[in-house]
Amino acid sequence: MSFDLVFFGGTGDLTWRKLMPALFQAFRHGKLPAGGRILAVARDEMSDERYREWLKERFREVDGSKRPNDEEFEKFAALLHYRRMDLSQPEHYQRLKEWLGERAADTVVLYLATSPHLFTQICEQLGAAGLNEKRVRVVLEKPLGHDLASAQEINRVVRSVFAEEQAFRIDHYLGKPSVQNLMALRFGNALFEPLWRRESIANIQITLAEGLGVGTRGAFYDGTGALRDMIQNHALQLLTMIAMEPPSTNNADAIRDEKLKVLRSLKPFTVESVARDVVRGQYRAGNNGGQAVPGYLDEAKVPADSQCETFVALRTEVQNWRWAGVPFYLRTGKRLAARDAQIVINFRPVPHPIFPGANQPNRLVIKLQPEDGLELQLLAHKGGADNEALTPVSLDLDFDKAFAANRVGAYERLLLDAIAGRLNLFVRSDEQEQAWRWVEPILDAWKQDSTGPRPYSAGSWGPAAASALVARDGFAWAEEQ
Ligand code: BG6
Repeated sequence: MSFDLVFFGGTGDLTWRKLMPALFQAFRHGKLPAGGRILAVARDEMSDERYREWLKERFREVDGSKRPNDEEFEKFAALLHYRRMDLSQPEHYQRLKEWLGERAADTVVLYLATSPHLFTQICEQLGAAGLNEKRVRVVLEKPLGHDLASAQEINRVVRSVFAEEQAFRIDHYLGKPSVQNLMALRFGNALFEPLWRRESIANIQITLAEGLGVGTRGAFYDGTGALRDMIQNHALQLLTMIAMEPPSTNNADAIRDEKLKVLRSLKPFTVESVARDVVRGQYRAGNNGGQAVPGYLDEAKVPADSQCETFVALRTEVQNWRWAGVPFYLRTGKRLAARDAQIVINFRPVPHPIFPGANQPNRLVIKLQPEDGLELQLLAHKGGADNEALTPVSLDLDFDKAFAANRVGAYERLLLDAIAGRLNLFVRSDEQEQAWRWVEPILDAWKQDSTGPRPYSAGSWGPAAASALVARDGFAWAEEQ
């Protein structure tokens, strides 16, 4: 299958940091379909040769295991081409069309790795130039809008030019092997499904914690915040996969229909429930891995009086028969105690304990990163003295070890899926809009509330109020248990 892959924003950070290294991995693993061309377009005037040299330099900054040696780069570079393009100029789209018309590749993937404020303009121009035929797919990077209205506007323009099945909205969490395993765990195994409901589960915790601060992204981050950056997309996508009903097939729309139903069942926020069930925080100076680190307000390009949240913890419920009354706690933050993304399913304790220690509930920990695995915590008898208390033991599965040779990075997987036209791991416009609809009352309530985010020390697990939020229901975050 021949393809042409075009990166708009061909000299941007996303392209050289994530996309090109991911493509190179696909190439190195022999997974990139033969007969492909990769075209980068950006504002600067450059020859193919110059672009290849530039990219080779950039690769030096890429993680060692993902870096090509000279010979590998030579081969990979043969696929690469560069064209100057001013995205506001209709004739530049015509030139692109001519370039793509030089050969009739089966598939054309247009990857918008630009600033999102250009998305509507680019899509309109692509439509005007007739670059929206059936073989064309458009890939849109997050953030897709900053609220419901802006997301709807982007989707309106995208839909006026492309059919829904031509639009690939990226949430890179969906490309992570650990996240795909979540679906396999639930719908490829009969074991957990009978327990996957309110009768057996006491609460569910989704934590996406980062040790890093905002780094050089202060200007972008300050206009975004943790709710838009991580909750509206990554955390909610994970929640849908945990809470959804089994889809009837493994087709993109069967899956996305079920995810959408979950988003529509989330308990809507009010001003009162935001004050009660949502905690926002902002990091102060502290430490990261033993090193002193500055507070958010001292980061580059962050205004000294910023009220931007770098931490969010919230409590919600999925209002349907399966989940009624089960709290879902979502938490994310920068400069937390560890880089740790995991989902914890806390089961209910046995109804009538007959052994000492048997009142500790079972727990399933779905580890997303840095490790990718499953840990099932059970209670066991050590086999010692009579009447000794039961002890927690773990069944621990490490998928990275078990499947080392097969693991594929998130962007590699998603790029290959976009080329192949597989939509399962991409977000449909109605899902994305529903997610905005749900988070928007939180944004509105915060706008009215001048108290701002609560401070927390870098290297901690966030403001104490986040612990209180869970303690109120008689539970605790996993690291506090
Ligand atoms: C991105 C956010 O979507 O996800 C970043 O914009 C965040 O702020 C990143 O750091 C986290 O991704 P990962 O794959 O490192 O967990």
